[in-house]
Amino acid sequence: MRPRPVKGAADKIAAHPERVVSIGREETVDLLSRLPGTGPRHLEIGAGKGAFIQTMGQHHPTTRFIAVEKFDHAIVKLLDKLLETPLPNVLAVRADAMDLARCLPAHCIDRIYLNFSDPWPKARHAKRRLTHPDFLTLYQAWLVQGGDLVFKTDNRKFFEESICHFSQNGWSITALSLDLHADQDPENVMTEFEARFSQLGPIYRLTAKPKEAHA
Ligand SMILES: C[S@@+](CC[C@H](N)C(=O)[O-])C[C@H]1O[C@@H](n2cnc3c(N)ncnc32)[C@H](O)[C@@H]1O
Repeated sequence: MRPRPVKGAADKIAAHPERVVSIGREETVDLLSRLPGTGPRHLEIGAGKGAFIQTMGQHHPTTRFIAVEKFDHAIVKLLDKLLETPLPNVLAVRADAMDLARCLPAHCIDRIYLNFSDPWPKARHAKRRLTHPDFLTLYQAWLVQGGDLVFKTDNRKFFEESICHFSQNGWSITALSLDLHADQDPENVMTEFEARFSQLGPIYRLTAKPKEAHA
């Protein structure tokens, strides 16, 4: 279901190109030049309203965070957060993740986060799931040698399917929790969806790495 538009969101985003980079369907943008520095680069895909990336940016000031979100109504909330508390190490990107293929070179990202990605339950929407093999191919190209991906969800079926995709497409699962909050990881940073859905059942999390050494 498409979310309701938020009045004025597109104009507000357009007024702050220094905080939100917008990438259109045919566009190519040199994203890395927008986040200078030398620290590791972490990429969140489907950042929603940005609570996770804001907290991560505050906790890890030497890491450079790129938060990608395709909908104005969500990314405008991250923009509000960044206007209230500027974080030089956080770049918001309004784009569909597939369009980043033109904007990120190979082997430039140290970690990818997929937090509560939409499960798209209908079979005909399978390719939109962010753990679909087409996306895993992109992620594999972006990750540096030794880089990894962290995936959290409350949806068990989506989690199990994703494990199969990782395993069958050249990735190793290096860590797995079937009840993240019971496991009490002090490093865990909650997302908006996590705060909402952890009341209703367990949160699943895995970390995965591409097996192949890069050429
Ligand atoms: C269920 S929400 C979770 C938001 C946030 N990560 C959280 O945990 O609170 C999933 C978000 O992913 C975004 N999304 C889904 N597919 C995407 C894609 N291909 N590119 C960019 N964002 C995407 C959606 O617009 C939505 O805001």
